[in-house]
Amino acid sequence: MTAIDAQSQPWWKRGVIYHCYVRSFLDSNGDGIGDLPGLTCKLDALRNGTPSSLGIEGLWLSPVYPSPNRDFGYDISDYRSIDPMYGTMEDFDRLVAGASARGIHLIMDLVVNHSSTEHAWFRQARTSRENPFHDYYLWSDGTNGKPPNNWGSSFGGSAWEWNEQTHEFYLHSFLKEQPDLNWRNHRLRKDIHDIMRFWMDRGVDGFRLDVANYYVKDAQLRGNSHEFVIAQPMPGNPSKTLFIPMSREVYDHTVDQPETHDALREMRGVIDEKPGRMMVGEIAQHTLDQVLSYYGDGQNELNLVFNFFFFVRRFRAKDFRDIIERTLDLLPEDAWPAWVLSSHDVIRAVSRYHCSPPMTKSMIGLLLTLKGTPFLYNGEELGLANTLLPRRLLQDPVAKRYWPLPVGRDGERTPMPWDATPNAGFTTGIPWLPVSAPAMSYSAESADPTSVLSFTRRLSWFRSHHSALNAGDMSIVAGPSDTCLCFTRRSSAEHLTITINLSDQTVAIPRGSFTSDQTPLFNTEEQPSMDSLAPWEVRIADTSA
Ligand code: GLC
Ligand code: CA
Repeated sequence: MTAIDAQSQPWWKRGVIYHCYVRSFLDSNGDGIGDLPGLTCKLDALRNGTPSSLGIEGLWLSPVYPSPNRDFGYDISDYRSIDPMYGTMEDFDRLVAGASARGIHLIMDLVVNHSSTEHAWFRQARTSRENPFHDYYLWSDGTNGKPPNNWGSSFGGSAWEWNEQTHEFYLHSFLKEQPDLNWRNHRLRKDIHDIMRFWMDRGVDGFRLDVANYYVKDAQLRGNSHEFVIAQPMPGNPSKTLFIPMSREVYDHTVDQPETHDALREMRGVIDEKPGRMMVGEIAQHTLDQVLSYYGDGQNELNLVFNFFFFVRRFRAKDFRDIIERTLDLLPEDAWPAWVLSSHDVIRAVSRYHCSPPMTKSMIGLLLTLKGTPFLYNGEELGLANTLLPRRLLQDPVAKRYWPLPVGRDGERTPMPWDATPNAGFTTGIPWLPVSAPAMSYSAESADPTSVLSFTRRLSWFRSHHSALNAGDMSIVAGPSDTCLCFTRRSSAEHLTITINLSDQTVAIPRGSFTSDQTPLFNTEEQPSMDSLAPWEVRIADTSA
C-alpha cells in the first residue's frame, strides 16, 4: 500500500474508538445504573476539540435496547427502541446530536446471533410449529427426549433447551434466555437489514457485531468434535491457564461456517448504502487467519475485525512483536487492523499484566501508535484495574455458574470513578456494582500532568495531528534491545520512529542510531536522555530526514 494521508482516511481508520459500558459510565437519576443522559453530559471529556479531552473519533455503546438483562443487554427484546433504564428515544437523539456536534461517531452494539426469549419473535415462534416466526429460530425434535447433538453453550451445559409448547428443542449458543436466530431464513435477514437502516437513519455511524462468526450453524446439525486438554485459557482471563484436565468442545459445526461470510457480505451492502458507515466484528475462538478472513477481500465483509490476540500473550516485546508482525502479514490488501487490550469480557490489561502506572503508559503508548484503530475500554485511560468483588455482589451469569472458579466478568465492569464525592460521583444512589478504585478519579487524574489520563490525552492529541500515526504504513525495525519494540510509521508527509521500552530496566541507546540522533517529538519522560531509554519509556522521533 502506498503511504496515504489522514484526510483520505475514513474516521473509523483514523481515530481512537472508545468502548463505553453505559451501565457503568454515569448515572443521571440515582437508580445506580449508568444511562444515556449521564453519558451525554460527559461527552466533553471524550472530545472537546482541545488536548484536555480524550479526542476520540468513535464511541461504541454497549447494548442499550430493551432487555430482561439476563446477560446485561446482550439479550435484546426489542431492536428498535431504548431500554427505559437507559433513557428514552429522545435521550438517544440528544446523545447522537451531542456526539455529532463534537465530531464523535456513534457505534451501536448489534447482537443478532441471538435475541432474548422475551423478543416478540421468540414469544410467537415458540407457540406453534406453524407460527410464521417459528423459522426465525433453530429447532430440533431431538431423539428420545434428548438433544439432537453434543453442541454446548459457551456459558456451560447443553446448547439445546426443551420447548414444551411445540415439543422440540431450540438452540442457544449462550444462555437459555438467548435463543439463536436462524440466519438461513431470508425474512429474518431482511428484518435485520431494516434494523440497521433504522439506526443509520437516526444518525448512527456503525455497528459492533456481537459474535459475528456464530451466525450460521451446520444445517445437518452434525456433532462437534472434542479435544482432551490438561491446560486451557481461563474464561474471562485468557492470559492465565486453568489446569483442569477436561474434554473441550471444538466448535467445528457451530462457528465459522462458510455461509456466515455470505450473510456478512449482505450486511456490508447495507452499511455501504450510506457513506461513512462501518461495522466492526467480534470474532471469537479462533486462529489469526480465521479471524482475519472476516475482512473478506478487504472491501466486502467487516470493515474492522477486533484483534484480541494480546489477551493471550505475555507483556513482552517479543510476544507483541510476533502478533503485530503476523497480523500485518496476513491482513488482506486494504484491510486495516483494530487493536484491543481490554474489554467488558476479559480482565483489564492493567490487572492481567500487573501494571504500574509507567507500565500502563507503555501499553497505551503501544495501542495508540500501532497501525490500526485503537479501541479504548472505559477506565483504561485512567489505568483502572479490575475490582475484586465478594461472591454476594456478583451479577454476571458466567461468574455465578462457575463459582468458585475465578472466572466471570463483573470485575472489569464496575462503575467509573469520576470525583471525590460519595460513590466517586457515579451515582447519588446505590451503584449496581461497587465503584472501581474510588481512590482514583477522572478529576484527580485530570489535575495531575503525570497521570495515565494526562498521558493518554496528550498522546491521543499527538496521534490525531500526525498522519504517519493515524494513516501511515508500519514496519517493525530492530530496536536498541530485545525488550524494546521499535517500529516506523510513514505517511506522504512524515516518517516517525516509535521506540517503546517494554521493561523495567534502563536500556542504552547506541551512539549514532536513529533514536539517539533525534530530539524526540513525543516522550513519556520530561527530560529524555539521548543515551538511554528509561524503564517503560515511550519515545516518538521524527526520522524523516
Ligand atoms: C459477546 C459479548 C458478551 C456476551 C456474549 C453473548 O461475547 O461481548 O458480553 O455475553 O457475546 O452475547
Ligand atoms: Ca440511571
